[in-house]
Amino acid sequence: VKMLIGEKPLAGKRVLVTAGGTVERIDPVRYITNDSSGKMGFAIAESARDRGAEVTLICGRTDAAPPNGVRVVKVDSAMEMHDAVMKRLPNTDVVVKAAAVADYRPLHRAAHKMKKSNESLTLELVRNPDILQAIGEWKSEAAGRDKPYVIGFAAETTDLEKNAIDKLIRKKCDLIVANDVTESGAGFGTETNIVNVYGALGLIERIPQMTKRAVAERLWELAQSGMNAAKS
Ligand code: CTP
Ligand code: CA
Repeated sequence: VKMLIGEKPLAGKRVLVTAGGTVERIDPVRYITNDSSGKMGFAIAESARDRGAEVTLICGRTDAAPPNGVRVVKVDSAMEMHDAVMKRLPNTDVVVKAAAVADYRPLHRAAHKMKKSNESLTLELVRNPDILQAIGEWKSEAAGRDKPYVIGFAAETTDLEKNAIDKLIRKKCDLIVANDVTESGAGFGTETNIVNVYGALGLIERIPQMTKRAVAERLWELAQSGMNAAKS
C-alpha cells in the first residue's frame, strides 16, 4: 500500500525510538560497546516523523548524526538509556527498541585512567537492566493506564524464530523484528536489512532485503494495522 501524499497515519502519536549501541565505561578513556550503527533506529524515527508522529529518539553511540525534525536525547550507558526511556513511558504511545543495549557493564568504573601492571587483567562485568523487559513489566502493572504499543528487536545468529518468539513473550512486546545478523545485507552497519516480523500468533511477515528506510516503512504499516486492530 503506497502512502498517499499528505496522509499522516501517525499524526498525534508520541513515538519513542531507541537507536545505536550503549557505551559501558571502564575508565575515563576506555569502554565496551558493540557494532550497532544506529541506522535502523534512525530510519524508523525518520519514517515515523514523515507519518506525522512526534518523535523522541534516545540515542546511544552511533556512526552518523541523527535525523532532523525529531527530539534527540543522547545517552551513554544502558543504565542512562533505561532511565531516559522509563521516565517517558507515561507520555508515549509507541516504543521502538532498536538500540543494541550492552547486556553487561564493568562492575567498577575507574575514576582515573587505569595503569597496566600484571600480565593478565580480569574485568568483572555485571548484568545491565533489560529495558525492553522493564517496559513489558510496566505495561502489565498499568491497569487502566494507556499502554504503549511496543516493538522490540532480536539480533540472532542461530534459531532465529525460536529465540525471537521467546523474547517477544518474555518481554511482552506487541511485535518483534528479528534479524539474522550473520546474513550478508542484514544487521549491524549495513545499508539494507532482512528481517522477520513476529507477533503473539507467530510469523507476521518476512521482509526481504531492502534499504533500512524501506524496512522501516513496512514496519510502520504492520504496527499501524496492529494498533488499529487493538482499538477495534
Ligand atoms: N534490550 C534491552 N535491554 C537490554 C538488552 C536488550 O532493552 N539490557 C532489548 C534490545 O533493545 C532489543 C531486544 O531487547 O529490542 C532484544 O535484544 P537482544 O540482545 O537480541 O536480546 P537479549 O534479551 O539481550 O538476549 P541475548 O542477547 O542473550 O540473546
Ligand atoms: Ca543482548
